[in-house]
Amino acid sequence: MRLILLGPPGAGKGTQAAFVCRKLVIPQISTGEMLRSAIAAGTPLGRQVQRVMDAGELVADDTIVDLVKQRIRADDCKNGFLFDGFPRTIPQAEALGEANIAIDHVLEIRVPDDIVVMRISGRRVHEASGRIYHLRFDPPRVQDTDDQTGDALIQRDDDQEDTVRERLRVYRQQTQPLVGFYRRLAAAGEIGFSAIDGAATVVEIEREISRVLRLPGDPNASGTR
Ligand code: AP5
Repeated sequence: MRLILLGPPGAGKGTQAAFVCRKLVIPQISTGEMLRSAIAAGTPLGRQVQRVMDAGELVADDTIVDLVKQRIRADDCKNGFLFDGFPRTIPQAEALGEANIAIDHVLEIRVPDDIVVMRISGRRVHEASGRIYHLRFDPPRVQDTDDQTGDALIQRDDDQEDTVRERLRVYRQQTQPLVGFYRRLAAAGEIGFSAIDGAATVVEIEREISRVLRLPGDPNASGTR
């Protein structure tokens, strides 16, 4: 299964990606996580993209497409993968087509802006693993501490309110056109496409995604981590 999760910042893509990937035993390919790892490691790529990400803008299409093409050559992608936060522009989506990388299903998670701001302001992450928490909706067992490692949780550099508003603007302008792009492919019978109400609870969204993708097992039994 080759999947794309589409949606604005804070929609819950990372949260739901972890759930779907556990169910299907496929890797979660988050371009945002790959870029943050490069920054944390101080690589040339990390140095190149840090300013752009801190400003809430998009990294250049060529850089992202090269990164993704290289990642999906890995063995763990043989049975499929889930793109979380990629593609984000029409040229990125076209690059997939040109490279004959077929997609089975696109899930669009829809969330209004006021919920996005509330979710992002309360988000805390475990930097090393990318595990996601929310102060109110999905708190860690011990305050500000990762459940599995005991490490301190952090707030992402691009989660400041001004940057979030810029990320939302960029989403509307550059990424939302992909909804029409993939709806047209779905109408032509080339892919599956489902719009999901992302304002629901995590478990309700898991249940809806399980239904449209016909995932195995009981979503109530999964938990978010
Ligand atoms: P990226 O890391 O992809 O960030 P994003 O798309 O802005 O999405 P987020 O990670 O902010 O949110 P999410 O939808 O995953 O929500 P989450 O599950 O965490 O990209 C970051 C940057 O990298 C970009 O700005 C750009 O610069 C660059 N970049 C990345 N990919 C690129 C590309 N392809 N091209 C160019 N540049 C690229 O949930 C949010 C919070 O809400 C959490 O606290 C969670 O616990 C909580 N939550 C989740 N679901 C629910 C729910 N149903 N109810 C209540 N709370 C919930």
